[in-house]
Amino acid sequence: MLKIRNLTVTFGGVVALSLHKFDLGDKELRVIIGPNGAGKSTMMDVLCGKTLPNQGTALFNGEELIGRSEIEINRMGVGRKFQKPTVFDGLTVFDNMLLGLKGNKSVFASMFFHLSPEHRAKIYQVAEQVNLVDELNTMAGALSHGQKQWLEIAIVLLQEPELLLIDEPAAGMSDAETEKTGELLINLGKTKSVIVIEHDMHFVEQIAKEKVTVLVRGSILTEGTFKEVKNDKSVIDCYLGAPDSAQMKNMKQS
Ligand SMILES: Nc1ncnc2c1ncn2[C@@H]1O[C@H](COP(=O)(O)OP(=O)(O)O)[C@@H](O)[C@H]1O
Ligand SMILES: [Mg+2]
Repeated sequence: MLKIRNLTVTFGGVVALSLHKFDLGDKELRVIIGPNGAGKSTMMDVLCGKTLPNQGTALFNGEELIGRSEIEINRMGVGRKFQKPTVFDGLTVFDNMLLGLKGNKSVFASMFFHLSPEHRAKIYQVAEQVNLVDELNTMAGALSHGQKQWLEIAIVLLQEPELLLIDEPAAGMSDAETEKTGELLINLGKTKSVIVIEHDMHFVEQIAKEKVTVLVRGSILTEGTFKEVKNDKSVIDCYLGAPDSAQMKNMKQS
């Protein structure tokens, strides 16, 4: 469903991303790992139309994404959850989700928006998916950090994307929230294609039931199952092996 070829992004002459070939299957959950500055976020920026590459193609269900605006790409079915929160603290979870409903983008439009039973059902269904069904009347500002992240995911889900891009979903979460986030992503991967960027190797182990892609200095070092990647010498040398790396500490514990 996603085919990337010869994609290059440079910033001031420095190559941030140089992807020769990257393919993602229908309803596949792919985890991308790699050291800081490897180009992971840049890859997502390109896919959602935020960054224009110097060259290359990215076909989504056969349609070119490169050159389209963020709004167009979103309408085509690519949803991106950013790291920075975008929810309204002074609105309830329900109202935040209402604002996120497809075709209901502006606050003004929503004020006069007639809430149909279908819309209400959709909000409940998505809230259920992201563990927020008991918090629908809670002010978003009163949610825990993890719950806020789930609300962000809920808002993206309400747009019914076919491909979901998520950058470091578990950052700053408690262990219990991280675990629940993992379950949530695994469930999403049953009905959608999902690309997750992640640092925490425990979390990667939990969610990576399919392929893991290792990105180093803008290029794919290797791809494989979690086990293959974890034991790959080049990955250990380039990424996991740094003696002080948090990743390595995590690995030693496991
Ligand atoms: N907007 C930008 N302007 C200039 N350089 C950037 C910009 N975004 C990213 N970079 C550079 O591109 C490289 C890849 O960054 P990034 O994609 O954020 O890596 P990662 O997400 O893997 O940590 C880094 O060297 C970073 O400094
Ligand atoms: Mg990043």
